[in-house]
Amino acid sequence: MKPLPHSSQNVTVTTLLADATQRTLADDVLAGLTSIPKTLPPKHFYDSAGADLFERICELPEYYPTRAEREILVAQSAEMARLTRATELVELGAGSAEKTRVLLTALDNAGTLQRYVPVDVAEQQLRQVSEAIAAEYPGVQVHGVAGDFLRHMDAVPAGDGPRIVALLGGTVGNFVGVDRTDLLAGISSILRPNDYLLLGTDLVKDRKPLEAAYDDSQGVTAAFNRNVLEVINRELDADFDPNAFQHVAIYNEQQEQIEMRLRSTMTQEVTIQALGGLKVVFAPGEEILTEVSAKFTPERLQQDLANAGLEIAWFETDSAGQFALSLSNPQIRS
Ligand code: AVJ
Repeated sequence: MKPLPHSSQNVTVTTLLADATQRTLADDVLAGLTSIPKTLPPKHFYDSAGADLFERICELPEYYPTRAEREILVAQSAEMARLTRATELVELGAGSAEKTRVLLTALDNAGTLQRYVPVDVAEQQLRQVSEAIAAEYPGVQVHGVAGDFLRHMDAVPAGDGPRIVALLGGTVGNFVGVDRTDLLAGISSILRPNDYLLLGTDLVKDRKPLEAAYDDSQGVTAAFNRNVLEVINRELDADFDPNAFQHVAIYNEQQEQIEMRLRSTMTQEVTIQALGGLKVVFAPGEEILTEVSAKFTPERLQQDLANAGLEIAWFETDSAGQFALSLSNPQIRS
């Protein structure tokens, strides 16, 4: 019997990070912690500890988005495969690619799937996922891209059949204002006429389930939020005491978004060696905005996509109407 080919034969990983990430972190921390109010961008949550904490969030009883999105994928993947005839799935922010397998299997069963392109800032996890998928789907090429999908969209390799570019989990909600416009325009720019954006969006709902989803009873989300301070301590040689910050998650009804913050419980001064010994002073009760997670109405979704030249071709929610998946593609201009 011939030995099975090692899965690595079908795997390529392109890295666009390395010191680029560290520079981004330094730039982001300097800009964010010297501005008023203080802010930090959410992408720095995801070192390996943060990626593990996020996996735990997805299993929390209060955190419904993962289960709701999975329900739609399970019910609708065969239909999406039929509709798109996609030969390639590009996944932005692939993470553990756990839900993705539902769609990959449907595309594989439809006989169209040739390549999977996961893009993620969490490089270690990306490498593991790339190897695992290649082993699970023999004959499918896997080309991982370790990068920031706002800045490295042009590094996504060109494909030759129709493709689905997926941004799942409601991650689009982490991008606000011009960042969301840029993100959707960036995705739109790599879509050809028969390509589709598959977008997962959390929907507007009552405050209660929303706030519970972002402030769970086991404190996993609190640990996830504080982990960004551990990342800064390690990568930028800083001396944050994460326990001196309280996790706060509130739903801003006017803006239709969850806002996560870290609130200083006392007067404190933090020194960041890698920023030339920058000293950051916190008043008691002073907050750092660490994440915005926008919730959508179908109208808002349609508007944001239209601004990027995209038109909704297909839209489904889970049975409880909590979360939506949509397929959209470039508007035909006449
Ligand atoms: C994966 C970014 C969409 O906003 O719901 C979960 C991240 N933050 N709990 C979200 C998150 C706190 C999540 N996204």
